[in-house]
Amino acid sequence: MPEDTPITISQSSDGTMYVPGSEIVENANVTAYMKQKGFQSYHDLYEWSVRNPQEFWADQANELEWYQRWEKVLDESNAPFYKWFVGAKTNIIHNALDRHVKTWRRNKLALIWEGEDATRRTFSYQGINREVSKIASVLKSMGVKRGDIVTIYLPRIPELMFCMLACAKIGAAHSVVYGGFSVEALADRIEDAQSKLLITADGGFMRGKVVELKNIADEAMARTPSIQTCIVVRRTGHEVNMESGRDLWMHDLLALPIASEKCETVPVDSEETLFILYTSGTTGRPKGVVHTHGGYMVGTYATLKYVFDIKEEDRWWCAADPGWITGHSYIVYSPLIAGATSFMYEGAPNYPYPDRWWSMVARYGISILYTAPTAIRGLMRFGEAWPNRHDLSSLRLLGTVGEPINPEAWRWYYRVIGGERCPIMDTWWQTETGHFMITPTPVVPLKPGTATRPFLGVETDVVHEDGASCGANEDGLLVIKRPWPGMLRTILNDPERYKNSYFERVPGVYTVGDSARKDEDGYTWIIGRLDDVIKVSGYRLGTAEVESALVSHHDVAEAAAIGLPHELKGNAIHSFVILRAGVEGTPQLEEELKAHVAHEMGPIARPEKITFVSTLPKTRSGKIMRRVLKAQALGQDVGDISTLES
Ligand code: WT7
Repeated sequence: MPEDTPITISQSSDGTMYVPGSEIVENANVTAYMKQKGFQSYHDLYEWSVRNPQEFWADQANELEWYQRWEKVLDESNAPFYKWFVGAKTNIIHNALDRHVKTWRRNKLALIWEGEDATRRTFSYQGINREVSKIASVLKSMGVKRGDIVTIYLPRIPELMFCMLACAKIGAAHSVVYGGFSVEALADRIEDAQSKLLITADGGFMRGKVVELKNIADEAMARTPSIQTCIVVRRTGHEVNMESGRDLWMHDLLALPIASEKCETVPVDSEETLFILYTSGTTGRPKGVVHTHGGYMVGTYATLKYVFDIKEEDRWWCAADPGWITGHSYIVYSPLIAGATSFMYEGAPNYPYPDRWWSMVARYGISILYTAPTAIRGLMRFGEAWPNRHDLSSLRLLGTVGEPINPEAWRWYYRVIGGERCPIMDTWWQTETGHFMITPTPVVPLKPGTATRPFLGVETDVVHEDGASCGANEDGLLVIKRPWPGMLRTILNDPERYKNSYFERVPGVYTVGDSARKDEDGYTWIIGRLDDVIKVSGYRLGTAEVESALVSHHDVAEAAAIGLPHELKGNAIHSFVILRAGVEGTPQLEEELKAHVAHEMGPIARPEKITFVSTLPKTRSGKIMRRVLKAQALGQDVGDISTLES
């Protein structure tokens, strides 16, 4: 290896260790913080941070501006309903935009956007502030106010970001539904949030085709009487149905005098709801995870700054969709809070050619790239020649999220994309956690396939069902031992579900729902979900939602869905269906049912395979034993089936 390589490779008890070089370590934001606190090592800094988590988080909060400071960092009096920065007045928009437009950063590039059709739009901080203010004043004059939940269903275009920020600015909450979801998924979420306003578009581009979002929205609105108004953003120029008295074009509204470029940011309580984001759980309908202004603002900012080492001159690309938590936290909010320049791309990674991403990295000089294992595996299969055509030397750090990364994909990412120079931040977190929880920082030695250790101020463990810690390399439940600022505050309309989903399985701690083990070096290896959640291409889907989409078809009497390993997607959905009497299970019907699930839920939920069966394994209380179906499909021992119905 050349002498100046910033990463050296050594052997650890558990395979190869990639040790960041002195250049990376010396220049890291986290090193500056370590020195400021008077510590000699990252380990010492971590130990201090978990002994004094409130002081650590208050340090981070002090770097931001508040209308009124907090009286208390953490209020645990009504656990597990924790409150952070109690008594403070703030608004995340003040730190994301208002603060910057008062300084030289008003002219700094905040967002570079490229459409799949190669259109480019760029916005400075001042530019975003203007767009957001106009949308916010329109929403305000339409009567949107604190306590309202605006549902947003848009493609990956700048307006998605602006609409979210506009809601926050006036103290309303947003509920973004991923543009890849479809009718039933959208309708369920609108219904639960009781939204009166939906913001959508005339479509979006994906793989050269138009995704007809407005048609899907129309079908969903037909099922959800709460919607009174639908604002439509023009993206494709395709003709869409506009229902008079309900549907309005965004560009018409923005041309009205009510669309003022001056709109005051509303000061809110630190604990005011910022957004609802739905995610799949063990049973039933998706859960509306509630996040708030103050703690979320501090947690996302601190993690971006220390983990991805964001500096003034960086060009940051989080290649997720803003419609998922990754996009909320690390495309929309924290990069703006940090004053960074972000890049956002609308379309498919391999469109029109498999080097689309690499050409954009080179053209825009991206310095930090954050994506998911499924995308890496997908691009890896086209071979090295595609990335090798491009100058990727601007890259300094890489990241991954969503599911465990297989070491083969990790090494390819490290070698071919990162040129053996860029440490890979494997960040473990969830919709519920709001920000990174287990993750390296650029000073931590890496092993392919593990998110390494908990972030500063965060304490996790792997435990047995009774709460006792597991030994090294022993499988157990991953838990988080104390509250953190960006944590969910509750489940919308269902505080009981909040308590029993996360705080009852192991008393006194937050149970994640993942199985994991810790190795001799204290590194956490995620094994997988313990519940009926399937990770398809890193997206989280509930078996219950897929099953409900299947039984909504007139030929289906009962259905079960499981995840089975898939080379590119990580997991793929396999369904078992009992048909209504007299219906025959033909290959045509299998295709029809797959299309039906895609229509109701979205293309990501489309089952890989549907098997027609006459019975499903059930417990005596009538619950489908998906574990048994899975073991059978994998040709494994079905294990303890003593509760199986006979
Ligand atoms: C679940 C949460 C938070 C961003 C996207 C996913 C799995 C997430 C990793 C990782 C191994 C991971 C876990 C977790 N997961 N990141 N780096 N290594 N597994 O958010 O949709 O709420 O899913 O994703 O199983 O519980 P989400």
